[in-house]
Amino acid sequence: MKILHAASELYPLIKTGGLADVLGSLPFAQKAQGHDVRVILPYYRHVRDVLPDAALVAVRDTFGGSVQIRYADYRGLGLYLIDAPHLYDRPGNPYHNEHYFDYADNVIRFAILGWAAAAVATGLDGLWGRADVLHAHDWQAGLAPAYLNAWNAYIKSVFTIHNIAYQGMFQSKHLGEIGLPWEMFHVDGVEFHGQISFLKAGLFYAGHVTTVSPTYADEITREPAGGGLSGLLDTRRQQGRLSGVLNGVDDAVWNPQTDAALPKPFHPKAMQGKKAGKKALQQFFALNADEKALLTVMVSRLTPQKGADFLLESLHEKLPANPDLQFVLLGSGAPELEQAFVRLAEQYPQQVGVYIGYNEELAHQLVGGGDVILIPSRFEPCGLTQLYGLKYGTLPLVRRTGGLADTVVQTDEVTLKNKTATGFVFDEPTAGALGGALENALSLWRKPRAWPAVRRQAMAQDFGWHKAAESYDACYRSLRG
Ligand code: ADP
Ligand code: GLC
Repeated sequence: MKILHAASELYPLIKTGGLADVLGSLPFAQKAQGHDVRVILPYYRHVRDVLPDAALVAVRDTFGGSVQIRYADYRGLGLYLIDAPHLYDRPGNPYHNEHYFDYADNVIRFAILGWAAAAVATGLDGLWGRADVLHAHDWQAGLAPAYLNAWNAYIKSVFTIHNIAYQGMFQSKHLGEIGLPWEMFHVDGVEFHGQISFLKAGLFYAGHVTTVSPTYADEITREPAGGGLSGLLDTRRQQGRLSGVLNGVDDAVWNPQTDAALPKPFHPKAMQGKKAGKKALQQFFALNADEKALLTVMVSRLTPQKGADFLLESLHEKLPANPDLQFVLLGSGAPELEQAFVRLAEQYPQQVGVYIGYNEELAHQLVGGGDVILIPSRFEPCGLTQLYGLKYGTLPLVRRTGGLADTVVQTDEVTLKNKTATGFVFDEPTAGALGGALENALSLWRKPRAWPAVRRQAMAQDFGWHKAAESYDACYRSLRG
C-alpha cells in the first residue's frame, strides 16, 4: 500500500511533544511491513537546515501564495517538504513566536499543509502517483480530508486525534481564503460554534477516525473529554468509524541497552547502569546522594492537561514528611507553573531538582535514572513517557485516564501476587489522591525484594510499534476510497 502521512511534527526534525515521536517511528514500522510510506511536512527553517538539498517536485500558485513541493530521503523515509518561506521560514516553535503568541497566519500555514497533503495524495508527484491512503494527524493536518472531499478525489483517508484539546479554530471569514467551498461551512462540515475547526474537518471528512488509545477513544464520545465534539464522535463509533490504536515505543530511540545519553547502559539482568544513572542525576541536581532515597522524575509540557498544579500541592505535603523522597522535573510551559517548580527546588534543595527548558538528552537521563516517573494527567490521549518509564524500569505513577489507564497496572496485593503490577495508579485529579499513590510507591520502595520484582515486570512489557502498525493496516484495508 502507498501511505502518505500528513503532520506538523516529526522527531528528530521538529518536535514539541509526542506527535513528533509517533511520526518519527510509525512510518518506519509500516515500511518494515512492506508498505511504501511517505510523510508530508512543512519545510520549517530547522528542517531546511538539516535537509538543505531537497529536490523540487512541483511548483503551484495557491491561496497561500507560491508553494514548492520538494522531496528528500530522510534515513530511508521519503519526505515531501512544503517549501513556502513566507509561511514556514521562522525560528523555533512551529506554532507560536517566542512570546507564546500563535502566529496570526496559522490558518493559512496549516490549510496549506492540508491542501498539499491532498495534492500529493492525488498524484502531484507523477513519479509516485496516487496514494492508497492519506493519513492525517491532529488539527494541523485536519483539512486534508476536506480538500479530498471538495475535489471529489476518492482516496481513502484516516484522521488520527492525538489531542482533542487543540482544535484549530479560526474565524469563519477565513473560509474564502483557504480554497474550500462555502457549502462546507455547515454543522455537517467544518463549522463548529460559528467558527472553522480544522479538527472537526478531519473528524467529519475522513473515512475513519482513530485516536491513540482505546480508553481515550471511549472517553471522547462523552463530555467533557470530547471537547464539544462527543456527539459526532459517538456517531462515528456507532458507524464503526472510530477506534483506538495504542502508540508504541521506538526501540531505536528509547532502549536502555543502547541509549547513548545514559552514563552506562543497562538491561533487566544487569541493572548497575541504572544505579549509575540515578547517582549522576542526584549529582547534577545537587540532591542528597542517597541511593536509598526514592527518586521520582517528570518530563513534561507544563499545561493544565498534565496535572502539574496538584502535583505541586502534593509535593509540598509529602516532601517534608518523607526526607527519603526526591523529585526532579524537566519541563517547560506555563510561566506560573515553571516559577512554582523553581520555588519548590529553592525550598527543598536536597530533595528537589528542576530544569526548565526542553532537553532531549536530559529527558533520557531522567527516564533512565529515576525510580518512578510521574504522569498525573487530567486527561492523556496516550502518553509516551509512561511507556518509556516501563521500558527503563522507572515505575509509572499515573492517573487512571486515557492511554495511562491502558498501559499501567496498579500495584496492590492481587497484582503483586499474580505478578502483573507495573506501577501506581490513582483516580481523582487531586493532591490527596496523588499523595495516596505516592505513599503506595514509598511503601513498595521500602520492601527491598518486592520493588525489583515489579520493576522486572514493568521492563518485560512489550509496547513495540509493530502492533500499532498492524492495527492501522487492518483499518486501512477496511476502508473504501
Ligand atoms: P504530549 O505529547 O502530550 O506532550 P507525550 O507523553 O505523548 O505527551 O509525549 C511527550 C514527549 O515529549 C516525550 O517524548 C517526552 O520525553 C518529550 N518531552 C516533554 N517535555 C520535554 C522536555 N522539557 N524536554 C525534553 N523532552 C520533553
Ligand atoms: C498528544 C497527547 C499524548 C500522546 C501524543 C502522541 O500530544 O497529549 O497523550 O501520547 O499526542 O500520540
